[in-house]
Amino acid sequence: GSAVAKIIGNNVKKLQKFASTVKMWVFEETVNGRKLTDIINNDHENVKYLPGHKLPENVVAISNLSEAVQDADLLVFVIPHQFIHRICDEITGRVPKKALGITLIKSKVMENGLLFKELLQTPNFRITVVDDADTVELCGALKNIVAVGAGFCDGLRCGDNTKAAVIRLGLMEMIAFARIFCKGQVSTATFLESCGVADLITTCYGGRNRRVAEAFARTGKTIEELEKEMLNGQKLQGPQTSAEVYRILKQKGLVDKFPLFTAVYQICYESRPVQEMLSCLQSHPEHT
Ligand SMILES: *[C@@H]1O[C@H](CO)[C@@H](O)[C@H](O)[C@H]1NC(C)=O
Repeated sequence: GSAVAKIIGNNVKKLQKFASTVKMWVFEETVNGRKLTDIINNDHENVKYLPGHKLPENVVAISNLSEAVQDADLLVFVIPHQFIHRICDEITGRVPKKALGITLIKSKVMENGLLFKELLQTPNFRITVVDDADTVELCGALKNIVAVGAGFCDGLRCGDNTKAAVIRLGLMEMIAFARIFCKGQVSTATFLESCGVADLITTCYGGRNRRVAEAFARTGKTIEELEKEMLNGQKLQGPQTSAEVYRILKQKGLVDKFPLFTAVYQICYESRPVQEMLSCLQSHPEHT
């Protein structure tokens, strides 16, 4: 969120078409005895979540959500997807009617997409507008499950080829899931965009889902314990998403067709041995 606020703050200073102040809603917390919003507004640095990077002074941190959105023309949502319902409930009726919104885990319609591209693009933050919002959104969520699987492979010291096979199966399940559950046409080309295969690779080699999953396989601690130890208690997206996806697959009788998503869920939450991660490579679901 702070990284994007930095980009937008600099862009609106350069381009005359946008309002000059960027209000950034910040969940208030105390850091080194000071309020995080005070630190950001006085020192222009989010010392907790983006240390070492100065924010432009036109980025103003606000802890009151209603106040942050009340005069907004454009809203940029940068929050874990679990919070979207609560946040939207809270701002309902408080946002100007004409305001446009985008979330960085979801995309929007084409004409607004181009407007947001202007707001967000920089020479080293390239934007591609893709006309397939549901698929982009699903890629952003589902890749985290695959990353947990990839992290299990790392923890089991499986080797590069096995890990690549897991990532490949994960991508196939992402495509199959999108084909079944998206309303519109699902284009394979979308998976070749940054939001698809590129983001998947990054997440499966860097990323905290992979890192915590590796520790899970090595140490035998629970996901919850590792979240406390490694992430200051913040929740991992991958395991939670696997639970949401598993519930849907079960309801639709599709569990057998998604062996990787299912294995990740069962290992995280149903005490299935992590070694069985690899058994999903032996089942060959017919994805058409
Ligand atoms: C938050 O801001 C709104 C709108 O400005 C105001 O009505 C409300 O009292 C504020 N809430 C708090 C807790 O300060």
